Amino acid sequence: MAASEQPLTCASTPRLTVMLCRDCCCGSGTKHPATDHAAQRAAIEELATDEVRVRTVDCLDECDRSNVVLVRDHRLPRRERDTWIGGVLEPRLTESLCDWVENGGPLPAALRARQFRLVRR
Ligand code: FES
Repeated sequence: MAASEQPLTCASTPRLTVMLCRDCCCGSGTKHPATDHAAQRAAIEELATDEVRVRTVDCLDECDRSNVVLVRDHRLPRRERDTWIGGVLEPRLTESLCDWVENGGPLPAALRARQFRLVRR
């Protein structure tokens, strides 16, 4: 790993940051009326610990993939640290996400199927 790819961390850097998108599309009862967005938000906010920071963020510019969750692993090099997951609309996906954040390991298959790579336009 090149020095420029080394993660920058300090004592207050959490292990993970979970960014839950909530804006025009993610969390929208109009766009996704069958999803309990409040329950999803509550479940994800419960993940917050000293090691896991949870943030609700404005539009991540991937609205066609809403609801979007970005999980950033601060221990990994910059190019590898972000896991983008779209289409998190069902309770089982939220539960799977929470289990993965809490327990680590490989990304569960249900989330892997919704994982995408960010391509900046
Ligand atoms: S509102 Fe979430 S990506 Fe736009």
